[in-house]
Amino acid sequence: MKITIIGTGYVGLVTGACLAELGNNVFCLDVDPRKIDILNSGGIPIHEPGLADIVARNRAAGRLHFSTDVAASVAHGDVQFIAVGTPPDEDGSADLQYVLAAARNIGRHMTGFKVVVDKSTVPVGTADKVRAAIADELAARGSAVRYSVVSNPEFLKEGAAVEDFMRPDRIVIGCDDSPEGEQARGLMRKLYAPFNRNHERTFWMDVRSAEFTKYAANAMLATRISFMNELANLADKVGVDIEAVRHGIGSDPRIGYSFLYAGCGYGGSCFPKDVQALERTAREYDQDLLILRAVEAVNDNQKHVLGKKIVRRFGKDLAGKHFAVWGLAFKPNTDDMREAPSRVLLREMIDAGATAAVYDPVAMAEARRVLELDFADRPEAMERIRFCDNPVDALRDADALAIVTEWKAFRSPDFDQLKSLLKSPVIFDGRNLFEPQVMAETGIEYHGIGRSV
Ligand code: NAD
Ligand code: UGA
Repeated sequence: MKITIIGTGYVGLVTGACLAELGNNVFCLDVDPRKIDILNSGGIPIHEPGLADIVARNRAAGRLHFSTDVAASVAHGDVQFIAVGTPPDEDGSADLQYVLAAARNIGRHMTGFKVVVDKSTVPVGTADKVRAAIADELAARGSAVRYSVVSNPEFLKEGAAVEDFMRPDRIVIGCDDSPEGEQARGLMRKLYAPFNRNHERTFWMDVRSAEFTKYAANAMLATRISFMNELANLADKVGVDIEAVRHGIGSDPRIGYSFLYAGCGYGGSCFPKDVQALERTAREYDQDLLILRAVEAVNDNQKHVLGKKIVRRFGKDLAGKHFAVWGLAFKPNTDDMREAPSRVLLREMIDAGATAAVYDPVAMAEARRVLELDFADRPEAMERIRFCDNPVDALRDADALAIVTEWKAFRSPDFDQLKSLLKSPVIFDGRNLFEPQVMAETGIEYHGIGRSV
């Protein structure tokens, strides 16, 4: 099939590359010429395991194209995926300007039947707005070309995006009952047929329910994390090991083990903004989502949990103190720094007078870029952050180590070397990588999250 992807970011690039891998002919459009240049020169602009090979293979096979040419891209695909960003507006609602600009571009250039797929995470009712934006453009040029707007939210996780896309738990597709909707259903069924070969993974529903399902999924996952974080903070006070508790409750299949890891808060481009956007939708309908407000508040607090533990141990004034920080990306296997808890911790350290030596296996360049923006109000702060080439270098003469991201490479350090390099053997572990008992045996003072047994 001929597919166009509008927006070649995390979701658009993964969707485009994976659909090309399945034999489709895919055009990926972006307004950012830098991204398109990188892709057309054989690189990829993000770190995502397995993606570079798929992109290279399908470019070479002539099935995957990257372009900034709107007219040519819209002309190409029978199915047009909108995969642009939906960042939070000032009031927390999803900013639809990029989605609607993409829709207008489709309306402006389409000459035959198109299925327009909202793949971006968008609030209930957005498909109606996309439909209206296209209709306005068609009306402006007196065109009566037919089209259908479909909701097909994406559930991939960064760092495992290719795997998630290629082996989805489910495919959610919302279509309407019009004749165009029926035609769209047929094309979407054909496009996703390879994923349904062994068993049917597609859930067909109405458009608004599909839009809502995406927010419900992210809100549920964020709720589980904040719930465990709140319990972990209590566990610290009452002398309970939250990891033992996680095993104890996760073994109940009604609860399950996933997404119950306490830590220093969830980050990323999605949970924070999607929780906010759902709350905002509720407010528009005069409903207050009490649970989600709490989920957000707990997470905002949790991003300070390492900073608070450090102050409790070293005092409020951290002048003259120096900390090693392992992990900057919001999660492992990505260089994405959006809403990363490391940014909150570094701000706290620097504001309290400390210096830091930081290391991340892949996010160093992105971290430098983002931290320069974070500290734009006080550029001298950047001189107090040393960017290291390896985790060992970051440890030298530090008063303590803080772990913010659970990269595999941090899981089995040489504890003797760690002790010899740190000024005092203290670890603040924001991701509970180590067992408190093992740490006690090695003589390292260990502060996990909810592990004060
Ligand atoms: P992103 O910021 O990485 O990529 C968006 C891209 O769209 C950018 O490259 C931008 O230049 C481009 N763009 C903006 N306006 C455009 C236009 N008019 N025409 C063409 N290109 C345009 O965003 P992302 O992380 O891929 O997220 C995209 C959407 O998918 C969001 O709604 C997000 O919530 C959702 N989502 C993201 C993930 C994830 O893991 N990142 C997972 C599931 C869903
Ligand atoms: C999340 C969802 O998992 C995806 O299904 C969804 O498609 C995506 O958002 C989206 O809508 O964009 P992602 O943000 O890439 O994916 O990463 P996650 O693995 O969900 O982690 C998010 C944050 O939660 C990370 O900071 C992670 O450290 C934290 N987390 C995760 C915890 O603190 N505890 C856990 O048990 C799990």
